[in-house]
Amino acid sequence: MTGHASGGRPTSYFIRTFGCQMNMHDTEHLEGVLEDSGCILAVDITQADVVIFNTCMVRKSAEDKAWGQIRATASRNQSAVIAVCGCMAERYGVEIMSRCPGVNLVFGLDSFDRLADLLERCDGRLCDLGSIDDASIDRLPSKRSSPSAAWIPVSHGCDRFCSYCIVPLVRGRERSRPFDEITEEVRRLADDGVLEVTLLGQNVNSYGRELDGASFAGLLEAVANQPGIRRVKFETSHPGDLSDSILRVMSETAEVCEYLHIPVQSGSNSILEAMGRGYDRDYYLQRVERARELMPGVVVSTDIMVGFPGETDDDFENTMDLVRAVGFDAAFMFIYSRREGTAAAAMENEVSQSVLKERFEALSRLQSRLTGSSLSNLVGSTVELLVECEARSGEYVVGRTRGNQVVLLPAEDAPLHSLVEASVTSAGGHAARGRVDKVIREPGRSTW
Ligand code: SAH
Ligand code: SF4
Ligand code: F3S
Repeated sequence: MTGHASGGRPTSYFIRTFGCQMNMHDTEHLEGVLEDSGCILAVDITQADVVIFNTCMVRKSAEDKAWGQIRATASRNQSAVIAVCGCMAERYGVEIMSRCPGVNLVFGLDSFDRLADLLERCDGRLCDLGSIDDASIDRLPSKRSSPSAAWIPVSHGCDRFCSYCIVPLVRGRERSRPFDEITEEVRRLADDGVLEVTLLGQNVNSYGRELDGASFAGLLEAVANQPGIRRVKFETSHPGDLSDSILRVMSETAEVCEYLHIPVQSGSNSILEAMGRGYDRDYYLQRVERARELMPGVVVSTDIMVGFPGETDDDFENTMDLVRAVGFDAAFMFIYSRREGTAAAAMENEVSQSVLKERFEALSRLQSRLTGSSLSNLVGSTVELLVECEARSGEYVVGRTRGNQVVLLPAEDAPLHSLVEASVTSAGGHAARGRVDKVIREPGRSTW
């Protein structure tokens, strides 16, 4: 080992990533930049010259987890350079070093291209945070985690400012990437053998608002039309920007997957208003209905929060009622977490811990039943799956349907990262199980 907290060029790295897909994709750029400079991935965190924490602070629990791991690593691995980037770095900056003296480098998205230099110069403690709005991270090299599937940011930041949410404060205002830059990237990926792209943005549907003549519907169509691309997914949709033209492109374009992730957050009009979501319950229900009208069988998932300040039993019942009415195929559920600096942080009537817990458990029980019945409906059908990774039990691999549902397959029949056709044989918990009928495409070949 040559690199360490007192300077020198690091030769091996390890990155811990927290948070959303955007953060995971940023990590792919970090890996690309480091490997281009000759640094290699360490076998584990204790062997690395440089350990980077790419952090999240959307909820207090995510932040606490990151602080805990940063502190533990700084005290265990004192010869390594400990670096922190991501949303906590953007928010706290140099304060991270006073709160955790073992940290040697805090850097921002804008510094990714200088990372190798920063690590070399970092002979103690350094904070390098530029303007996040100018970051040109998208053009940096990246080390993709899959040869068959890729994430592509289409916009950065968010202009919605939901009252509970820290994201606009850490990721900045919404900026759309140039249309041609995105389609060109997709074309190159397809040439490389990528079959599935997931377009990423905090609110993808508003893509292009500040560009001349570009819209998300147009982008979706252009991306789907790149030769070789078989599946296009996108996240996250804001119900307020999910236009009929987007739904129409989805229904008319074979490559665009029949999958919509549309966070509802609450089923109560007064809570939706206090959250500043910009729609009411009826509007949301009408969007789902329209999507199902145009795409029968579309898989619909959502994010729901319980315990927003002032949430009454009635408000919560309205959420339960909406969940039953829609019958979501899947949902990510969260307990409200107060984030300093957001509008909601100043709101009164926080819900007590015991009530929060009860509501969260009731909602989780309801959604488990709904998720289970959605998976049961797959049994007996034939599905197209992209094999993502090994399952926890090594005998199985994780396959994803076009609707983003998980079907476990016997590992010996389904090569990693291949596209297969499978029959779904059973369902239970959060996954279905299936049998491979044929391998449609092995990974890494760009011609058919
Ligand atoms: N841009 C996306 C993702 C935002 S973060 C979107 O708008 O949906 C992902 C989810 O975390 C949100 O949908 C919300 O349900 C949840 N979340 C955000 N801030 C939160 C907070 N302060 N407490 C609890 N959950 C939160
Ligand atoms: Fe946060 Fe709302 Fe923006 Fe999503 S749309 S990132 S919840 S402010
Ligand atoms: Fe977390 Fe930042 Fe994503 S706060 S959810 S990593 S945008």
